[in-house]
Amino acid sequence: MLSSRREFMQQSIAGMLSVSMLQSSLWQQEWKEILAKYKDRSPQAVAEDEDFWFYVQQAYITSPHIINLNNGGVSPHPLPVHQQHVQLLEQANIAPAYQMWQIIDKGREPIRQKLAQLGGCSAEEIAITRNTTESLDLVIMGLDLKEGDEVVLTKQDYPNMINAWKMREKRDKIKLNWINLELPIEKDEIFVDYFTNAFTPKTKVVQLTHMINWTGQIMPVAKIAREAKKRGIKVIVDGAHTFAQFKFSIPELGGDYFGTSLHKWLSAPFGTGMLWVKKENIKELWPLFPNHEFDSDNIRKFEAMGTRNMCAEMAIEAAIDFHNGIGIERKEARLRYLKNYWAERASRIPGVKLFTSLNKNYSCALALFSIENAKPEDIQQHLFSKYRIYTVTIEWENIKGIRVTPHVYTKLSELDLLVMGIQDFVNTQVAKK
Ligand SMILES: Cc1ncc(COP(=O)(O)O)c(C=O)c1O
Repeated sequence: MLSSRREFMQQSIAGMLSVSMLQSSLWQQEWKEILAKYKDRSPQAVAEDEDFWFYVQQAYITSPHIINLNNGGVSPHPLPVHQQHVQLLEQANIAPAYQMWQIIDKGREPIRQKLAQLGGCSAEEIAITRNTTESLDLVIMGLDLKEGDEVVLTKQDYPNMINAWKMREKRDKIKLNWINLELPIEKDEIFVDYFTNAFTPKTKVVQLTHMINWTGQIMPVAKIAREAKKRGIKVIVDGAHTFAQFKFSIPELGGDYFGTSLHKWLSAPFGTGMLWVKKENIKELWPLFPNHEFDSDNIRKFEAMGTRNMCAEMAIEAAIDFHNGIGIERKEARLRYLKNYWAERASRIPGVKLFTSLNKNYSCALALFSIENAKPEDIQQHLFSKYRIYTVTIEWENIKGIRVTPHVYTKLSELDLLVMGIQDFVNTQVAKK
């Protein structure tokens, strides 16, 4: 009995995998034809062409039981990425030490090159990590700072980074100078003033969150970094949400360090990330997990984190290919189109307030809304229990609301349902009064 159940389970899993493999190769054939057909169309025209995005949607396995509008947390990966990851896992599992360390890991340098192309930087400045937290904690913990040195950061930065700095404050007696941003902001100068007012002669480091995850606010990092550089301040950029969401090159931001997660907007396997360190800063940055070259200027010294899922790392390649197939200009235009699609409609409902600018310089895929006199968790529950729409409740410092994050596979019909759900919530509130 036990063995027949086990056989059944094994056959079902094998069946599911082969269906997704088949689906993936059929999809890849059609995808090539679609890309050829659309090659001369402008990104904006493609952004609004549902036929193109229909093919992108087909690359994702979704469920009728949930409409996932929290892609900001982590993204699902499309079929070609899933397929490459699963194939590598199967290969590794035959003889993991040999397969992972001798064969599969050979893909590391080509992937470093491809990531560098996406970032517009040198491959000698790219380390492959597991996420933004690891990338930036590595920088926060690895910088030489002494008692009395000052660091400027905002209360709207990500908690993991804030906690790392608080630990250094306690351990090394550095001083943290906090900025409390009032969002949304639609003027670069306001940001620049916030930061320049916080800098002192003792400031050694500033942390800039390229896109603030709570509301989707884009910060003018290059302008703030320019002011920091004039004062000899090192610049750490938290790019968790921006890499592969919209077009920019990492060096043009003017920072010294940039960390991101590849399982967000690149749709690479879970637990994949990247750290960029400007070449001249590599030598002086201490790695969190030292290898024998811990004081060298070799970027690979940041990758000695021991045995891990190298198959996930190597499947980053398929994610880059998928991303390049869509193209960053089309992806950026589509994500902004989807965000504006629901946000403009929702903002016309009485009582609904947006905490995200719709100006293209200050937001892209993410946006936050609230409803007058309503608790965010009640709105989130309503959307989930009645419409199976999954969003995230945000209550952080001076920010309160529901964050909505579509991705390239999101359908307009799903956003229509979201707006209907918001309207419906407002109607029930009005009826209760
Ligand atoms: C701004 C920001 N920084 C860092 C992180 C941490 O990312 P991860 O959990 O992939 O390390 C997140 C996650 O959402 C984020 O939004």
